[in-house]
Amino acid sequence: MTGDDSREEPTANESGTPVPDGGAAGADDVALDPWGSSSVSDYRKLFEEFGIEEFDEVLEEVPNPHYLMRRGVIFGHRDYRPVAEALQNDEPAAVLSGFMPTGDPHIGHKLVFDEIIWHQQQGADAYGLIADLEANSARGMSWEEIDEHARDYLLSLLALGFDPEEGTLYRQSENRELQDLSFELGAEANFSEFQAIYGFDGETDVSHMQSVVTQMADILYPQLEEPKPTVIPVGPDQDPHVRLARDLAERMRFFKVSEAYASFELEPAERALVATFYDDLDPADFDDDTLRCTHVADALAETPLADLETDADTLSSVLTKLEEAGMEPVRPRTRFSDRRATEDAFDALIDAIEGEKRVYENHIDAFEIDRAAAEALAREIEVDNGGYGFQPPSSIYHRFMTGLTGGKMSSSNPASHISLLDDPEDGYDKVKAATTGGRETAEEQREKGGKADECPVYELYAYLLAGDDDEFAKEVYDECVGGERLCGGCKEQAAELMRKFLADHQEKRDEVEDLLEETDIELESPRRR
Ligand code: TRP
Ligand code: SF4
Repeated sequence: MTGDDSREEPTANESGTPVPDGGAAGADDVALDPWGSSSVSDYRKLFEEFGIEEFDEVLEEVPNPHYLMRRGVIFGHRDYRPVAEALQNDEPAAVLSGFMPTGDPHIGHKLVFDEIIWHQQQGADAYGLIADLEANSARGMSWEEIDEHARDYLLSLLALGFDPEEGTLYRQSENRELQDLSFELGAEANFSEFQAIYGFDGETDVSHMQSVVTQMADILYPQLEEPKPTVIPVGPDQDPHVRLARDLAERMRFFKVSEAYASFELEPAERALVATFYDDLDPADFDDDTLRCTHVADALAETPLADLETDADTLSSVLTKLEEAGMEPVRPRTRFSDRRATEDAFDALIDAIEGEKRVYENHIDAFEIDRAAAEALAREIEVDNGGYGFQPPSSIYHRFMTGLTGGKMSSSNPASHISLLDDPEDGYDKVKAATTGGRETAEEQREKGGKADECPVYELYAYLLAGDDDEFAKEVYDECVGGERLCGGCKEQAAELMRKFLADHQEKRDEVEDLLEETDIELESPRRR
C-alpha cells in the first residue's frame, strides 16, 4: 500500500496545485509488484501501458472533492465514475482499503486513511481491514508483531476521523464470512493465472497464494449484502490485485449481457462491422421484406476491405458466420448468456423478460429491452436467486511520497519517512534535515527560484501540511518558484507544522483508545506461530 517499502517518487503533475516531481529520472521501468519494489518513474506509463485512467477526467463528477483529488495526488482511477455518481445521488456506495501491519503507520498511509474517511463522510459504507494473513504469509511477520502494529494502524485511522459505528473494521484472519468468500473466489482462479499476474512459481508458499484470494474477497466484501459501487483507494502497486478482483467479480456473475444481431455470437469488432451494415442496408435492395444474414454477407463481400474500418481476419470471420446463418433475419437484440446461473435463475430470467424473447439452450435473446435495463434485470434475478451480482470494483490511485532524504520513502529507512508515532520533536528534526529542491546559494535561489516540483518538503505541504487550504499550498509553491521563499525558512515552517500535526494526532490517538476497545475487531490474535 502507500509508500510501504521501496517506492519510487512521483514525476510531473497534470492538475490543480502543483505536485512535486521526485525527479526519478533514469529509472525508466514501471513495475507494479504488490510485494516487491514498485517503481513508478513515469506516471504516464500507467495510463498507456496499464490502462489506468486519469483522475482529472472524473474530477468534475465528484462532489466536494478531497484536496488530494484537487491537487492531483490522487492521479488515477479505474472505473471510479459509478462511485462518484452514487455519492452524487446519495445512493449506496462503499469504500474499502487494507493495511499490512508490517511496521508503524506513516504519513504515506495517512493518504489512504484520509481517502477512506472522506468517502465515509460523503456517505459511503466504509471498511478498513488489517491484512494480517498477508503480513504473515507474504512478509513473514509474527503474530505478536502483527498485533502490535495492527493496533497502531487502527488508532491512527480512528484518530483521523473514521467512524467505527457507521463503518466496519476487521482483520482478515478473524473474518469467517470473508474466508468463505475467498474460498469461493479461489475456485475461479488458478495457478497459471497467479503465475502470470504475480510471478508466482513452484517455490511460492500456498498461504501466500491464499492471501491473494483473501485480498480478492476483501475487495468484494462490501458487496456481500448487496451489489454496490465500491472504491478501493490504494497505491498503484496494488493495481494487479484490482484488475484480478474485477475479473473475478465478472466471472462470478450468473449471466453475461451482450448485444447481438442474430442467433450466433459476434466479437465486439465483428459486431461493430455488422452494426454499420445493418444501419445502411435496405431489404428492398435484395427484393426481400426482411434483412437477412446472407444479404449482409453479400454486401460485405462486395465492399473492398480498404473501405471497411476493420481487418481481414475480422471480415472473414464475420462472413463465415453470416453465410452459415443464411436466411436468418438480422435483428438487433440483447443477449443474456448463462455463465453460472442455477436452473431456477435461468427460468426466473425467462419469466422476467418482457416483450418478445427467444430462449436457447445457453442464452436468451430479448428484443425489447435495452442493454442497461438488461444489465439491471440480470443482476436482480441473480441476487434474488442466491447470487452476489457483484459490480466490478473501482479503484483510485495516489502518488507515492518521496522520501525525505530523496529517493524512495521506505518503512525500513526511518529517516526517509515520518511515522505517525514519531516523537513530534523527531518529526520536526526530520523535516529540518530533509532534502530540498533548493539552489546552491540563496542568491541563486532568489534569482532562479527553487525547484518545488522536485522538493520533498513541498510535497509535505501539498500532501499533508497545507491540509484543505489550497491557497496556502499554492502560495508556498509560487513563492518557492518565484524565488521569494528560501529553504531555511520554508523548512522551519514545515517542521513546525509537522511537529504540531504529530502532537495533535498523537493526542487524538490517546483519545480514541476507548473507541477502539468498543469496536468488535479482535486486537489479539489467538495464533502463535
Ligand atoms: N495488499 C495490501 C498491501 O500490501 C493490503 C490489502 C489487503 C488491501 N487487502 C486489501 C488493500 C484490500 C486494499 C484492499 O498493503
Ligand atoms: Fe522546497 Fe521550500 Fe526550498 Fe522551495 S523553498 S525548494 S519548497 S524547501
